[in-house]
Amino acid sequence: MKASNVACLALLSPITLAHYTFGHLVVNKTITERWRYVRDVATQPGWETTPEGIGKFYPQYNLTSTNMTCGRAAINAAPTTQTATVIAGEEVGFYLLDWNLKETMYTSKSHTMGHYGPAQAYLAKAPNDDLTTFSGIDADWLKIGYFGPKNDSDWSTYMQNGVNFTLPAKTPPGKYLLRFEHFTLNYWYQFDDGTWDNSPSEFFVNCAQINVVSPGGGIIESKDMIKIPGPAYGPNATGILVPEEMAGRLPFKGLLNYKPPGPVVWTG
Ligand SMILES: *[C@@H]1O[C@H](CO)[C@@H](O)[C@H](O)[C@H]1NC(C)=O
Ligand SMILES: *[C@@H]1O[C@H](CO)[C@@H](O)[C@H](O)[C@H]1NC(C)=O
Ligand SMILES: *[C@@H]1O[C@H](CO)[C@@H](O)[C@H](O)[C@H]1NC(C)=O
Ligand SMILES: *[C@@H]1O[C@H](CO)[C@@H](O)[C@H](O)[C@H]1NC(C)=O
Ligand SMILES: *[C@@H]1O[C@H](CO)[C@@H](O)[C@H](O)[C@H]1NC(C)=O
Ligand SMILES: *[C@@H]1O[C@H](CO)[C@@H](O)[C@H](O)[C@H]1NC(C)=O
Repeated sequence: MKASNVACLALLSPITLAHYTFGHLVVNKTITERWRYVRDVATQPGWETTPEGIGKFYPQYNLTSTNMTCGRAAINAAPTTQTATVIAGEEVGFYLLDWNLKETMYTSKSHTMGHYGPAQAYLAKAPNDDLTTFSGIDADWLKIGYFGPKNDSDWSTYMQNGVNFTLPAKTPPGKYLLRFEHFTLNYWYQFDDGTWDNSPSEFFVNCAQINVVSPGGGIIESKDMIKIPGPAYGPNATGILVPEEMAGRLPFKGLLNYKPPGPVVWTG
């Protein structure tokens, strides 16, 4: 990727952090402690000597990797992660890890999503209600949230500290991984000299462990679910590879025509 990429240059303002991770679950209108209910992720190989926050924040580029499911090596954190009781029909959310890059310390100052792109939320039910060995790899993921453009040129997630959304009221009760993703889009960018360059997608993914309390009753069909990683998440899949006008050059155009990867949102 050439440094002269226009959209990337816009990300270099001092208040913007271009790498981040969603380390906090929001439940009962409370931002819970980091990594209490969200599975902690491993540092990106090669970034071990950087401060903890930076190596964990590193985006994922390999969309076929099993780390796309819940973040880098997230299953390793299953024994140390607690399971949050969530009432179906109530609001839940993900909030960016409050790591202060400049001071290289945890801080109460919140971060914001400094990348352009959508976010989505999925649920996968743990077999036998046992989250301890459940990685979510090869599981059936039900999409319960999509946070797309707010108008033809802007994303609703841009510069937000995270996303809050409603857990569908008829979600069948039980233990789940709740997966959140925010990602940039894959596009080809044409320079003024006519040459083309590719800017691949960057994924920021985390999973929380939740216990859904609910009367249930929602009907889930196989068309509502996908595998992650899987064909819906290839680098050239619908909603990942997009026209240059949607991602390459500010101001963006045509975002209201954007269709995200995966099935439509299940609302119960
Ligand atoms: C999500 O909810 C929490 C808790 O109420 C709040 O602090 C946070 O600002 C909300 N995030 C967004 C993007 O509205
Ligand atoms: C991406 O992940 C797949 C599946 O684990 C692996 O086979 C492949 O080598 C990875 N590619 C890169 C460039 O690391
Ligand atoms: C997943 O992330 C871990 C930790 O960074 C890394 O060691 C491993 O190679 C990654 N696995 C795949 C399939 O990409
Ligand atoms: C959220 O509130 C419900 C109802 O009061 C409670 O049962 C549950 O334990 C709370 N969840 C967390 C993570 O505090
Ligand atoms: C989209 O909304 C932003 C403000 O959030 C505004 O600055 C921009 O002009 C709007 N774009 C369009 C195409 O309406
Ligand atoms: C995606 O499209 C590009 C450009 O056409 C091509 O070079 C690349 O091989 C494709 N990747 C996959 C995984 O199909």
